[in-house]
Amino acid sequence: MQDIGIYPGSFDPVTLGHLDIIERSSKIFSKLIVSVLTNPSKQPLFTADERVNMLKEAINHITNIEVVQFNGLLVDLAKQKKAKVIIKGLRAVSDFEYEFQMALMNKKLDKNIETVFMMTNTDYSYLSSKIVKEVASLGGCIRDVVPDNVVVGLKEKNIKIH
Ligand code: PNS
Repeated sequence: MQDIGIYPGSFDPVTLGHLDIIERSSKIFSKLIVSVLTNPSKQPLFTADERVNMLKEAINHITNIEVVQFNGLLVDLAKQKKAKVIIKGLRAVSDFEYEFQMALMNKKLDKNIETVFMMTNTDYSYLSSKIVKEVASLGGCIRDVVPDNVVVGLKEKNIKIH
């Protein structure tokens, strides 16, 4: 069994889809590093600290997880944390092309690190942080798709919650 896994993302904010991948991965690895990283093509709503805190609160019932924030390359953080496996969630074929590109680039950067894809739970295959923010900002109900603390976090950003 691979000892340490790393699950990276923007988590802006964390959704039940992310939490499903985190819970399942935490059962496969003896330790899971959940890492809040910078995606240069996204302008986040929450600060990195806010995203880390929301993640920590949402997964505080799982003991073998460390939540970290990092501004550099994912492979450098993986090396620093001695993680040999990057876990990525796949929702649909539309995710595949970009994820495949990142997996190959990460392999090019560090041949000792493997990327493993975990299929999303079908309950969450339509879910993304982007769609949650859009629905919440337009007054739609997001209570069943994010943890309770994210509902509070979105309220604090003056995003309407129904
Ligand atoms: O949740 P996201 O936005 O799809 O996650 C993308 C993320 C943050 C994992 C990706 O942008 C990333 O790995 N950023 C860190 C910088 C890096 O290593 N870039 C090269 C990726 S090949």
